Amino acid sequence: MNFLILSNFSLFCYIIGLVSKKFYISTPIYYVNDKPHIGHLCTTLAADVLARHHRLIGDDVFFLTGTDEHGAKIAKAAEENKKTPADYCDQLAKDFEQNWKKLNLSYDFFIRTTDPRHKKAVSEFIQNIYDNGDIYKAKYEGLYCIGCEKFLTDSDLVDGRCPYHSNQKPQKQSEENYFFRLSKYQEKIEKVLMDPKYENYYEIFPENKKREILNKVKEGLRDISISRANVDWGIPIPWDKKQTIYVWFDALLNYYTVTRFLKNKKKFWPADLHIVGKEISWFHAVIWPVMLLAAGEKIPKKLFVHSFYISGGQKMSKSLGNVISPKDLTSNFGLEGTRYLIASTFPGADDSDITMEFLKEKYNADLANGLGNLVQRVSKLCEKVDIKYNFHKNYNNYKNYDLFLKNYKFNEALGLVWKKVSELDKYVNDTKPWKKKGIELEKILQKPVNEILEISFLLKPFLPETAEKIEKIFTANQIKAPKNPLFPRFK
Ligand code: MSP
Repeated sequence: MNFLILSNFSLFCYIIGLVSKKFYISTPIYYVNDKPHIGHLCTTLAADVLARHHRLIGDDVFFLTGTDEHGAKIAKAAEENKKTPADYCDQLAKDFEQNWKKLNLSYDFFIRTTDPRHKKAVSEFIQNIYDNGDIYKAKYEGLYCIGCEKFLTDSDLVDGRCPYHSNQKPQKQSEENYFFRLSKYQEKIEKVLMDPKYENYYEIFPENKKREILNKVKEGLRDISISRANVDWGIPIPWDKKQTIYVWFDALLNYYTVTRFLKNKKKFWPADLHIVGKEISWFHAVIWPVMLLAAGEKIPKKLFVHSFYISGGQKMSKSLGNVISPKDLTSNFGLEGTRYLIASTFPGADDSDITMEFLKEKYNADLANGLGNLVQRVSKLCEKVDIKYNFHKNYNNYKNYDLFLKNYKFNEALGLVWKKVSELDKYVNDTKPWKKKGIELEKILQKPVNEILEISFLLKPFLPETAEKIEKIFTANQIKAPKNPLFPRFK
């Protein structure tokens, strides 16, 4: 009796969300100086896959993405487009949102740094650090990369230029700025990044990116400039309205401010996982946690730093003509095809080299001839008999898949699913069900029906629409082959 009451109680708690674990995941907020590109898409898709997975295992998920709208780079782009920065940002932020919606990216909130609620929270935050004595005024001289919106150190330079924006010459800048005492936190940040037992431990993945960060930390932290005297398009420094807050200081804070101004999101702080590309790892691994330490706030739990897409061995660039855009992908492979191709080529620990040719082959092999063909074949055979599935959804049965997702190895997780696809293909070839009838045919088809349902279950975070279609087909009272192939062959 007691047991019954207890278990009913835990069920009750679970239902109202009292015992479900929170999971707060974020992407970088993207600059609105251009339309969304494949790099933006891959990070947002990675976050989407993880957010969906966590929702499926019952976690209470908050998935945040958005746009970074202040600073010199955006002001310049607006001017080039003959628009005011505000109008320009409105238009591009809308473009980003529309793109993400089309691709079924299930974010819970889209933050824009021009949101007055964000601006107010940023002002309060910086004032607090200033009052604590961690901000001072000094003169700065150095090379500035407007593409990165950052001052470059000697070790950043490759042949005198920023490696990420080698087409632009870094500009010499010299001005009086406010500085943030990063150097004061040298010991603390070492503990944050290296001591797993520390309550504020911040875990960086993967190992190679973590090593790079730690090596740089050991070279010693230097104070950074956090205001601009000559950039109007930004949040004013609250105690000196002649200067604006450095765009990165403003942008990093988005992860935090949203949990202050959206009252029902307060419980999600600190974030559980930030996903970012390698070029902005220093900001997220070092500057960001130090800002939080200085304000006496809790630090996020994990940072996943991924590598880059390249094409034909080279950086994607307009001048080389090797850029692959999200639009190229969706118009050729459809939305689910695009999701699959991005997830399965995701640049994790190392850069991922893709070309349109390679993607076409992969689409045909894995989706049109692989999964799509298997579903078509088996469902067609099932039309002649009466098969009832026997499959129960439970992630506990898929430990390796779960482990791969936990380590952000999307291609490996999908590899397990596709191993099943080819095993089933072989099984159908070997058992030749088209030669069988009645009970014998039913017996043969039971296994592929159950296992295709298993496949659809595992595909849910990656290909939500395809997974639903497959589930509908094979759980129907009478299984029928779909009229149109799930993934038409690419010619
Ligand atoms: N606005 C800053 C981020 C502020 S976060 C507080 C910014 N924006 S960005 O528009 O340049 O987007 C950078 C992100 O786009 C990278 O961190 C990465 O997630 C993604 N990518 C940009 N180019 C990429 C590739 N070529 N390949 C993979 N992802 C890349 O930096």
